Amino acid sequence: MTAPVWNDGARIARPSDSLPAADHVNAVVVGAGLTGLCTALRLAEAGRKVVVAEARSVGACASGASTGKVTVLQGNRLSLLAESFSIDVAQDYLRAHQHGVEEILRLCSARQVPFERANAFTYAGTPEGVNKVRNEFEVCRELGLPVSSHDSLDTAFPVHAAVELPDQVQLDPVALLDGLVAAVVAAGGRVVEGCRVTGLEESDDRVAVETTAGRLSADHVILATASPILDHVLTTTELVPHRSYLCAFDLAGSAPESSAPEDALPEGMFVSVDSPSRTLRKATVNAQRVLLVGGNGHRTGEAISTQELIGDLESWTVEHFPNARMTHAWSAQDHHPTGMVPLVTTFGSDEGRVHFAGGYSKWGITGAPAAARIISDRILGRPETVSFGTPSKLGAMKNAVKSQAKTPAMMVGNLVREGLKPTGETTVGGETVEVSLVCPHAGGICTWNDAESSWDCPLHGSRFDADGSVLEGPATTDLKRL
Ligand SMILES: Cc1cc2nc3c(=O)[nH]c(=O)nc-3n(C[C@H](O)[C@H](O)[C@H](O)COP(=O)(O)OP(=O)(O)OC[C@H]3O[C@@H](n4cnc5c(N)ncnc54)[C@H](O)[C@@H]3O)c2cc1C
Ligand code: FES
Repeated sequence: MTAPVWNDGARIARPSDSLPAADHVNAVVVGAGLTGLCTALRLAEAGRKVVVAEARSVGACASGASTGKVTVLQGNRLSLLAESFSIDVAQDYLRAHQHGVEEILRLCSARQVPFERANAFTYAGTPEGVNKVRNEFEVCRELGLPVSSHDSLDTAFPVHAAVELPDQVQLDPVALLDGLVAAVVAAGGRVVEGCRVTGLEESDDRVAVETTAGRLSADHVILATASPILDHVLTTTELVPHRSYLCAFDLAGSAPESSAPEDALPEGMFVSVDSPSRTLRKATVNAQRVLLVGGNGHRTGEAISTQELIGDLESWTVEHFPNARMTHAWSAQDHHPTGMVPLVTTFGSDEGRVHFAGGYSKWGITGAPAAARIISDRILGRPETVSFGTPSKLGAMKNAVKSQAKTPAMMVGNLVREGLKPTGETTVGGETVEVSLVCPHAGGICTWNDAESSWDCPLHGSRFDADGSVLEGPATTDLKRL
């Protein structure tokens, strides 16, 4: 595994900050991914004193590792929402993501973040996927999107049907994060890296925030942590962690003079509706055209060998693009809400001071700015004009049963059971390290992720380094070293 291809080459320096001397601010935003930074920006632009507390570094999790597709054609999501709930829910979801696209373009223009226009395609890679693609086309048309339908495409891989939506956007997600950090700082906010939030205490007039870099208090706290740290009910019942893989390929590779490998994939962003899914697009990185191929997603902690899943993506790509040479491979996760639309919630009552947004089902580049709008309007006392739709309780319940029914795999890799206490052993820097595999969040049993050398919890997606240090929440503490 490597870092995402976006991290190659020189990048602008990010301002690194510390917690403010004054211990009370209007808002503490926990997490500097897209949700956190978009929310912080809206609050700071409205004149609020805002601190973003990030446990690792800006974009360390999903936001800095995505494919960078900014589009409202999202596989067959719109038809899924229309079929599972109603066309009105699909319409609300679409409007929220259209708002997200507008916000991203506003930011790109204000902060000179480069982007390209590209057509988006949802395609069927097998005959079994054709009906899903046709349904997506019909629902997109009903919702007024200017889509066209194809029986095939001139691509190097099989396409049995496709929907095309013109004039969408693709970009480098790390350049977008850099632009957001600069905008937050310019609006008077602070972004503090290496600052993990470990505790919250809400009272009538404030929330006390405990972090690894010190304490502060705020009128409001926004958990932009992908999964809501410090809340067990929501994580357990409403969000399913889902990991998937991305690889970057040099298309020139060992191409013979006569072939034109860069033409093997027409310009565009492609997402299949089949399983295993495939997502493809070209990108410009350091002035070179590269091919991105992703897919092979699974519930976090459930793959037998994550290394094999990357090997499978590489084989699939080389089969269809014989000149492709893999240069990067990485992985990231997002959460799938059982209610099928992103979760934006205020804990306790409507007057509560702790908020959460996440669960974008891998469409958060446009979902996060929409969620940021909803939360910031709520905090600022403005009318809420954006909504992801209100799925019916029955439909959401049916989907919840389907998503949570799969029992997570409990044991793989080098897991040793000592009586009833599962432990794991790895070698870190030549030293043998033994950890308890009982997740400190709520007692799930972590499994070994061989591609990333991490311990991953199948219950709610917490991840830990080989030595047990927490990488991703909802856990806020390490695995116990033995
Ligand atoms: C492989 C992949 C490809 C994707 N491609 C696309 C795409 O092409 N288009 C699209 O629209 N979407 C895409 N997505 C989805 C998108 O990347 C995510 O929905 C979005 O980035 C989520 O942003 P976030 O800020 O909510 O979460 P994250 O980016 O996960 O950020 C959460 C942050 O919170 C921090 N944190 C956690 N716990 C604490 C704590 N206790 N204290 C302080 N900080 C904490 C973490 O370190 C992290 O930085 C993709 C997702 C994946 C996994
Ligand atoms: S993430 Fe909840 S138990 Fe591990």
